[in-house]
Amino acid sequence: MQKILVLRGDGIGPEVVGEALKILDKLGAKFEIAEGLIGGAAYDVHKNPLPKETLDKAMAADAVLLGAVGGPKWDGKVPFELRPEAALLGIRKALGLYANVRPAVVFDELADASTLKKGIVSGLDIIILRELTGGLYFGEPRGIKEENGQKIGFNTLVYSEKEIERIAVDAFELAMARNKKVTSVDKANVLESMVLWRSVVTRVSENYPSVALNHMYVDNAAMQLVKNPKQFDVIVTENTFGDILSDCASELTGSLGMLPSASLGRTPDGKKRALYEPIHGSAPDIAGKNMANPTATILSAALMLKTTFNRADLHDKIYAAVKKTLAQGFRTRDIWEEGKTLVGTSEMGDKIADNL
Ligand code: IPM
Ligand code: MG
Repeated sequence: MQKILVLRGDGIGPEVVGEALKILDKLGAKFEIAEGLIGGAAYDVHKNPLPKETLDKAMAADAVLLGAVGGPKWDGKVPFELRPEAALLGIRKALGLYANVRPAVVFDELADASTLKKGIVSGLDIIILRELTGGLYFGEPRGIKEENGQKIGFNTLVYSEKEIERIAVDAFELAMARNKKVTSVDKANVLESMVLWRSVVTRVSENYPSVALNHMYVDNAAMQLVKNPKQFDVIVTENTFGDILSDCASELTGSLGMLPSASLGRTPDGKKRALYEPIHGSAPDIAGKNMANPTATILSAALMLKTTFNRADLHDKIYAAVKKTLAQGFRTRDIWEEGKTLVGTSEMGDKIADNL
């Protein structure tokens, strides 16, 4: 039987993951489900946000489904290297999850929920492919040191050719199955690492003559994402840039609560690894209040079924059920508008489950 490790995490994590499990259950797909602790929840028990036990369980699983980590309970109150977010970065690195796929798809029913004009966002279907185990997030040296009585904080934006090449290949492969367009986002006018990025992506593109490639500086890309997002198909970019641009793209879809993600890669033993999580955070302000939108996590579970378990049929079924639920007018608070029915986290999950 195929194994899923469920890591609910902190804040709204447990609630939204609970709804995704409801959907998996309703589909009748049989999985062996294990649970583990991560983030602040793990810190509270083990004084470690990513205990070895959790990593061992992740290694033994075919896929990991994660909620979110972090919150004011731990912010600035635990050593920096033991903060909940460190666990997320740690598990991504440990599982070799270098490719983070973040699809931004606008459901017709939500075309009015975006703060942008309907015509700009309706029909939008793009993917942000974020490099996830390198770049500014992981570069060495890093730290805070003291020099001449002054503190200096520093991080390093570093990429090897190999790291750029593998994410570029994934971008072109994704584009081949879609609209055959890759936009590589960098900052090659300022950063040497991004000069290399641009040249490696260009070299990889030669193996994909049917895919159109353009390069864009990240500042311009942020502007183009809100000006004319439908010009994009697959955006491939550096870790930090991808973090920022994907939050930006989420608003095109109506809410941060709508965007799923798949983080893919391999461990050195050659085994394919995958972790699925919503792109949003733990939203401590609404945690435990049955207010969060579970859709991003439910759609993350759908991505898991399609990508790790080869069940595109079940993925499509979940998408259709979400679409139907939205068409029926049910909305969590983040996407609610006049004339629609406001529901809580668990009701939203129930409605989607009913519509499967
Ligand atoms: C994300 C999140 C994380 C990140 C945080 C929680 C560390 O913002 O998945 O986008 O920066 O990668
Ligand atoms: Mg982010």
